[in-house]
Amino acid sequence: MLVIKTITELRKWRNSIKGTVGFIPTMGYLHEGHVSLVNLARKDNEHVVVSIFVNPKQFGPGEDYKKYPSDEKHDLELLEKFHVSVAFLPDVEEIYPPDFESKISVTKMSIILEGEKRPGHFDGVATVVAKLFNIIQPNRAYFGQKDAQQVAVIKKMVSDLQFPIAIKVGETIRQKDGLALSSRNTFLNEKDKKESTVIYQSLLLAQNLVNKGVRNSREIMTAMRQLIEKTSGKIDYISIADSQKLNEIENIHGDTLVSLAVYFDKTRLIDNCILKI
Ligand code: PAJ
Repeated sequence: MLVIKTITELRKWRNSIKGTVGFIPTMGYLHEGHVSLVNLARKDNEHVVVSIFVNPKQFGPGEDYKKYPSDEKHDLELLEKFHVSVAFLPDVEEIYPPDFESKISVTKMSIILEGEKRPGHFDGVATVVAKLFNIIQPNRAYFGQKDAQQVAVIKKMVSDLQFPIAIKVGETIRQKDGLALSSRNTFLNEKDKKESTVIYQSLLLAQNLVNKGVRNSREIMTAMRQLIEKTSGKIDYISIADSQKLNEIENIHGDTLVSLAVYFDKTRLIDNCILKI
């Protein structure tokens, strides 16, 4: 595995190879969720590139940019073990030199749901992913369903701006108890680790209600809220929306996304599922 830190070197590698490139952008502190995307990419492509870059532009002023966990040694060992061709680990100045001033914004989709709670977040995501796409020039790029709105924003950017890249989506990888794997889970104490499984339970409850014939979004969200409020979790939002356009809907239909964000102490966890009718 090559470990590359500069854009020049990455470009040189890209120009020297034949065959398809699969790309997984990450912010590091890698877990099985990231590995599942690497495995998907390996099946489809001759070469796999993983970037590790904690992107300052997608964190708001009060958020955890400075505290975002990292373990470069462990990450590189893991990527080597899963046969990644190139680990791209640029410094902040490499991606954002002091005179950097451009921004990509998928305007409407970025100011609802997560975007409403985290202003500027998706502009930061779209900008860094566009830049990484231009540097790496992958044939395919892999994202997790865990961040459903991120997937929708990236797909829209790729379609609007004609990036010649196929966007592939990997399922959410969970612990046995249902908690979706996340680099941020490391911030949870023992009690919150147990209690935060209520997030997945609330998604199962939503699906159960649908199985019983409930179609009204409000009714489903109320039941989820009541379940979560039995724990110390503080709900940031619960939403039932069209899974492509992300507009909230009153009655659920074939392609409906339930998503939520819940704080356990200062740790904000997100999760979602597509309801099956
Ligand atoms: P990060 O949170 O490191 O996630 C990198 C990729 O792994 C994302 O596509 C995310 O959806 C996926 N992922 C995270 N947890 C997962 C899980 N439990 N199951 C399946 N996939 C999972 O998302 C980002 O970084 C950044 O916003 C980034 C796209 C790198 C731009 O900075």
